[in-house]
Amino acid sequence: MMAAWKAYLQEKLITEDALQTRIKEIGAQISADYRDQDLLLLCILKGGVLFLTDLMRQITIPHEVDFLAVSSYGRAVRESTGVVRIVKDLDEPIDGRNVLIVEDIIDTGHTLNYITRNLSTRGPASVKICTLLDKAERREIDIPIDYTGFVIPDKFVFGFGLDLDEKFRELPFIGVVNPGMVAE
Ligand code: IMP
Ligand code: MG
Repeated sequence: MMAAWKAYLQEKLITEDALQTRIKEIGAQISADYRDQDLLLLCILKGGVLFLTDLMRQITIPHEVDFLAVSSYGRAVRESTGVVRIVKDLDEPIDGRNVLIVEDIIDTGHTLNYITRNLSTRGPASVKICTLLDKAERREIDIPIDYTGFVIPDKFVFGFGLDLDEKFRELPFIGVVNPGMVAE
C-alpha cells in the first residue's frame, strides 16, 4: 500500500540528511554562544517538537526545556491573524532565565510577536529565537531571529513537526504540499 502522505507530496524541499546536518550546526553554535550560561529551551507546541528533540541531542551544554502551546484564531484555514491565545502555559517562571524559543516555522510573524511580548513581561534575562524554517517573504511583523535553519519560499510545507490538518508531523523530511490535494 502507498504511504498516505505520498499523495499530498509535491516535492521534498529539505531532506532528512540536510535537516540533521543543519541542526548539528545550530546545536554547536548554541552550545558555544551559551557556554557557561543558563539555557532554557522553550518549545512551541506542537510543531516545534521534532526540531526540539533533535536539537537537544546536538547541544553539548547543560540545558532545560519547557513547553508553551498557543492557538491562533485564523482568518481562514492555514492563515494566522495574530490573535493568539495561550492554551498551555509554561510549567515554571522564567524570571532571570536565558530563554531560547524553539519554533518550527515563522510565517507572518504574528505568533512569535505575541509570544515574545508576553514572555518579556515575565522578567527573563534574555529571550532569543531559534526557528527551523523562515518563510521570510511572508513576514508582516519584523521579528529578530537569532538562529535560522532554512529560509524557504512561500509554499505550504509539512513534515518534521509541521502538520497537514494535524497529520504527518512524524515525517523525517520537509515536503511541499501538492496544491491539488488541499482546498487553499
Ligand atoms: P505566523 O504567526 O504567521 O508566523 O504563523 C506561524 C505558525 O503558522 C507556525 O507556527 C505554524 O504552526 C503555522 N504555519 C505557517 N506556515 C506553515 C506551513 O507551511 N506548514 C505548516 N504550518 C505552518
Ligand atoms: Mg507552530
